Amino acid sequence: MSAEPLVTVRDVSVEFAAQNGVVRALDGVSMEVFPGETVAVVGESGCGKTTLARAILGLQPVAGGRIVVEGHEVHGTSRGLAERVGIVWQDPYASLNPKWKVGRSVAEPLRIAKRTGDVGAIFSEVGLDPAFVDRFPHQLSGGQRQRVAIGRALALRPPLVIFDEPTAALDLSIRAQILNLLRDLQEELGCAFLYISHDLTTVRFLADRVAVMYLGRIVEAGPTAEVFENPRHPYTRALMDSAPTLEKLGTLPEPLEGEIPDPTTRFPGCRFAGRCVSASPACAQDPAGTTEGLRVYFCHNPVNVSTSAAVS
Ligand SMILES: Nc1ncnc2c1ncn2[C@@H]1O[C@H](COP(=O)(O)OP(=O)(O)OP(=O)(O)O)[C@@H](O)[C@H]1O
Ligand SMILES: [Mg+2]
Repeated sequence: MSAEPLVTVRDVSVEFAAQNGVVRALDGVSMEVFPGETVAVVGESGCGKTTLARAILGLQPVAGGRIVVEGHEVHGTSRGLAERVGIVWQDPYASLNPKWKVGRSVAEPLRIAKRTGDVGAIFSEVGLDPAFVDRFPHQLSGGQRQRVAIGRALALRPPLVIFDEPTAALDLSIRAQILNLLRDLQEELGCAFLYISHDLTTVRFLADRVAVMYLGRIVEAGPTAEVFENPRHPYTRALMDSAPTLEKLGTLPEPLEGEIPDPTTRFPGCRFAGRCVSASPACAQDPAGTTEGLRVYFCHNPVNVSTSAAVS
């Protein structure tokens, strides 16, 4: 891992006005992405994953904190950022212009950046027949469309590509093909990936490091194998336990017990305490980060550490 992060997110907050108050979609999020690595962001629906992606892309104004990409602070819609950060959204049908031949969609970032590039070669790179450049999105399958979206994101060879649930809309068999493609592309091109997903199996397959989000905060982050094999935060543990196993593959994961609190409600302390099996009075206070090697977690009563040692 290089010493200089490609992306630094420092104490970032994002707020949305809601009918009954303010939703803090991000509440003091800090993370880094280093060149060439894959960092996954996981967490339940509504925890702020897409908001984080949009903030890094300069599409989402922040209420506090700072985001730095390659040494430049991201302010709202930062010019030139699109050349340095590619994005692949969940639904390639919605993200590709239906009236354009797909070759044009892939060529568009090159045209805007006034750069030349071989669109046919990009099609080959993402596993598509170069003859497909003349097709329209509706003439392609879901997997093929997502390959086009990946080609478009890579056209300018950005050092970072963000994927927001890139396989969620695809069939299981196609999912595996796209994941293999992503792994191959990253090996070949050496760019960094920020990979957002619900799907822990794919995260395990792709990511070097993983950040677990709950209600606008990162509750645990660290090397993927460590976090998966030995989660410290009870929420990470619950998420792992609810993940589909090989036998259950193809069925929806069991929802976690308890309700996600109303995101407009501000309360002190750990966001997860109301659903947590290990909650104690200490959880009414915000937990400070505990660092263990390359891992950090925010919990007063971590898993696998005796309670007397954890609570002072
Ligand atoms: N434009 C918006 N206006 C108001 N609230 C928003 C807006 N975008 C997001 N939110 C709220 O911010 C919170 C985080 O949303 P976000 O879309 O980032 O979650 P997510 O983790 O990507 O969820 P999912 O897994 O369902 O995609 C949610 O409570 C959501 O309702
Ligand atoms: Mg999302």
